[in-house]
Amino acid sequence: MYQIIDGKRISQQIKDELREQMAQRKAEGESRCLAVIQVGNDPASTVYVNNKKKACEYIGIDSLSYELPEETTEEELLALVEELNGRSDVNGILVQLPLPGHICEDKVLLAISPEKDVDGFHPMNVGNLSIGRPGYVSCTPAGVIQLLKRSGIQIEGKECVVLGRSNIVGKPMAMLLLRENGTVTVCHSRTKNLKEITRRADILVVAVGKPGFVDADYVKENAVVIDVGIHRNEAGKLCGDVDFDSVAPLASAVTPVPGGVGPMTIAMLMSNCVNGPG
Ligand code: GUN
Repeated sequence: MYQIIDGKRISQQIKDELREQMAQRKAEGESRCLAVIQVGNDPASTVYVNNKKKACEYIGIDSLSYELPEETTEEELLALVEELNGRSDVNGILVQLPLPGHICEDKVLLAISPEKDVDGFHPMNVGNLSIGRPGYVSCTPAGVIQLLKRSGIQIEGKECVVLGRSNIVGKPMAMLLLRENGTVTVCHSRTKNLKEITRRADILVVAVGKPGFVDADYVKENAVVIDVGIHRNEAGKLCGDVDFDSVAPLASAVTPVPGGVGPMTIAMLMSNCVNGPG
């Protein structure tokens, strides 16, 4: 029988721990403040931003909200980031992605002070992660590590295969598994003999962005399968990159969609806000 890794429960547990920590910090006269910037009205971004603000409120982190119009220029956005970099009462700055096409995302992410980059997207933080120095870590892959650890799944010495090489998930995921002493392979769209490689995995992390891409053919018996994907199918139902019904009976543990990795991203963002850059 396989274990369903309950991301909703684990993320709630982390948020409750952070809430307690913040109450203690407040009693000592400390506070935290996250600035959240959204440009335009992408409906998915609005949902994410609202959830981030709600989580701040639950934990006791102050939040500042900037809802800027679609026509905001790159210069205006950069000026706001600079202003927030200079404010001593702001600890974290988050610019919700995607940005409108006329604004260069790389330029904006580079402008955020690495000390306030709670998303862990700044090249300084990405570099620190890769050489084992303290810094902010990208929230979704950090959440996957917490799911594994809090489910009693050992990483050290395990064959870990990461399917996907994005800057936000695949690459930092590989670095984090390596930091936990896993043996790590990264696969991507040009990988040859993909199934042969994924079938070696004790821990398979799937972040390919294709609904139902991984079925039982990709998975070794008793593997742990972590699904980072989130999509809406033709019937309007949420699903992941993993075909859950096909894979689960073969796996020892598996994350559902929804309720697996998804809720962990915000929990780890909150952890970054409370704890600072590691
Ligand atoms: N858009 C989708 N996911 C994320 C995220 O984790 N952080 C930011 N800033 N934007 C996103």
